[in-house]
Amino acid sequence: MNKVKFGKKIVEIKTKKELVKSLFNKVSNQYDLMNDLMSFGLHRLWKKDLIQNIDNSKPSVILDLAGGTGDISERLYKKFKKSTIIIYDLSYEMIKKAKYRFKNKNIFCINGSAELMALPNNCIDLITLSFGLRNFSDIDTSIQECYRVLKYGGKIYCLEFSPSYSKSIKPSYDFYSNKIIPKIGKLIAKNENAYQYLTDSIHNFYHNPELKNIFNKNGFFCYTEKKYLGGIAILNVFSKV
Ligand SMILES: C[S@@+](CC[C@H](N)C(=O)[O-])C[C@H]1O[C@@H](n2cnc3c(N)ncnc32)[C@H](O)[C@@H]1O
Repeated sequence: MNKVKFGKKIVEIKTKKELVKSLFNKVSNQYDLMNDLMSFGLHRLWKKDLIQNIDNSKPSVILDLAGGTGDISERLYKKFKKSTIIIYDLSYEMIKKAKYRFKNKNIFCINGSAELMALPNNCIDLITLSFGLRNFSDIDTSIQECYRVLKYGGKIYCLEFSPSYSKSIKPSYDFYSNKIIPKIGKLIAKNENAYQYLTDSIHNFYHNPELKNIFNKNGFFCYTEKKYLGGIAILNVFSKV
């Protein structure tokens, strides 16, 4: 049986999927507020930069994978008004928020798993994947699925926290993420464990060269890597070759 990391724990793949789904269902109401509090609003700048980095080649179909409450989709919609945007997310409660947010817009919400997407081959021009990948239960399979649904030459903009941050910020960042973030989670989201998982999942995630290798071995070419705040978060842009 294949085992994977869920924060500090090692669990079976299908157990991780259930734990992650349940976690995001539980924190969905406070998710957006928590993002602002924990990152001091920085996640907004990183997401804005992701959107600014997307070239203006007018993608007709965009997949916002692990789109959650729709933060990235909202920005995509402003930039690409004529595109069809699909948000795909495992958590019903998270995607319900997105559905409400985009009531009258040309944005479609699918509640499902990145490891097996209900989409045809080669149908997507562009994928955004913001702070989703490290939560996936089977990262390899989900990257293969991205490859399958993406058109040749299509790009995936992957923004994710990373353990590859600079040594100079390590003491303060480690203290903040291990000691403060779970307490903010306890206070605001009433869920210390969920935010302990957040921290643990970052520290136990792939370092960026390893992550790029996984994409490379699954047929992607990485041509941009952009680090934010000493590498706390990294935007990697891959294309299907
Ligand atoms: C940290 S949130 C990111 C949400 C949004 N993209 C953002 O940047 O604010 C991670 C999202 O990944 C989703 N997710 C986790 N595992 C998934 C999977 N296997 N397939 C699809 N979505 C998944 C969760 O439900 C959650 O909404």
